[in-house]
Formats: sequence, structure tokens, C-alpha cells
Amino acid sequence: MKTPTARLDKLLSSLGYGSRQEIARLAKAGGVELDGADITDAAARIAVTPDLPARMTIDGRPVDPPQGMLLILNKPLGMTCSHKEDGALVYDVLPDRWRRRDPAISTIGRLDKQTTGLLLLTDDGDLLHRVISPKRHVTKTYRASLARPLAGTEAALFASGQMMLEGEDKPLAPAVLEVVSPTEARLTVGEGRYHQVRRMFAAAGNHVEALHRESIGGLALPPDLAPGQWRLATTQEREAIFA
Ligand code: URA
Repeated sequence: MKTPTARLDKLLSSLGYGSRQEIARLAKAGGVELDGADITDAAARIAVTPDLPARMTIDGRPVDPPQGMLLILNKPLGMTCSHKEDGALVYDVLPDRWRRRDPAISTIGRLDKQTTGLLLLTDDGDLLHRVISPKRHVTKTYRASLARPLAGTEAALFASGQMMLEGEDKPLAPAVLEVVSPTEARLTVGEGRYHQVRRMFAAAGNHVEALHRESIGGLALPPDLAPGQWRLATTQEREAIFA
């Protein structure tokens, strides 16, 4: 595949470093280095390779990753997966400059404000659609803490392929329940309906008190990420989603 190229001012502006005029001034002042040499011409064309942060510095610091980022966040309690609601947003944990990136960074699907765990974010629309497309069958596994002991009938109900959620007219695809303790279960679903896990347990006469997403496809929440921490996904982690 041909390496994409971009004008320096356009590239850095799309990464949130400022307007094209501001980038031109920065470059002229010697603030941009590529492969060890200053680039003073804002119109210079740059090969936009994934390893750009290893090759380019802005005011002496590695440039942010170019478009195509996949981030893994351990979502803490109380943050909303939205760009514009009141209160704490998941985007608040990212560098401020990243709010100005174009294309914007979005969550891949959403977790409720009160759900914790694995949340992916990307600025790659194709990747986003591949993960959430029902055709790809990327499963999601949640651990639910329940208000009441399991009745013992839930696994069959969830696996039936005939379970209906209130207000919907299409049955849920079969889901897999694993009992962890009388009031804790692991549930693997292939869809992403609104409040799906909480509504499934509510339909079974129970109530989810705490919900944590453990994995998406073959990608488990990395143990090195404490709640609120995030990092770029490795190539292996990207591939694990679809494994
Ligand atoms: N199901 C829910 O009910 N909530 C989530 O956040 C994710 C899945």
C-alpha cells in the first residue's frame, strides 16, 4: 500500500496543534523536527507513517500518533461516553489537544455511566464499524454483580434466542451466562442494545448492582490499566479483537 502524505500544516492542524497559520509560525521558529532535521516550510509534504511519533518532534516532544489510533481505556465509574453531556466525560482523560483532532476520537460503542471496564476509542471510522457491525460477531463479556441470588433459570433463558426485552420487537441473539457465585455472573453477548445487560437481568427478575466489561472479542482489559488509565493498543491487541 502507498504511504499517505500530507502537508505539514494540514497534518499538525488535524492533530490539534493549532491553526495552519500557527503551525507555519511554529515551523519557521524551528519547533518541528523530522528525522533529526528542522522542517521550516509549512507546505512540506510529510509521509504519514504509523511510526511518525518516533520520527517527528514538536517543541522537542514526540508528535501525537497520526490518524488510525486505537486506545484502550479502563473506564472508571461515573464517566459518560459522550462528547457533550454535563459532568465527567470519558474524553476528559485524554490530552486536551486531542479534542481538536479531525477526524474526532470516538468511543467504540458505549458503556453506561455506572459501568466500568474495557472501553475502546478510535479516530478510525472503518475500525469502529468493523467492531460494532453485527456481521463480525465481535462478542462482549461483562461481569455483573446482582442484587439477588441467581434463580438457576437465567442461562437457558439468555441462551434461548427468544428472549424479548421490553419495548422491542426482535428477540435477543443467544447469550452465554457463566455463574461465578450466587450473586455474580459473567455474560457474553454478541449485540449492543441499549442497557442490554441490565435489562436482561431485569427481565429475569433481578437487578444489576455493578457492571464491568472484561473483554471485547479476544481482547481482555489489560491488567496494567488502573481505572481511568488508558494507552494505545498494540498490534497484537488490535488483532485480538477479531480473533
Ligand atoms: N449493558 C448494559 O446494561 N450497560 C452497559 O454499559 C453495557 C452493556
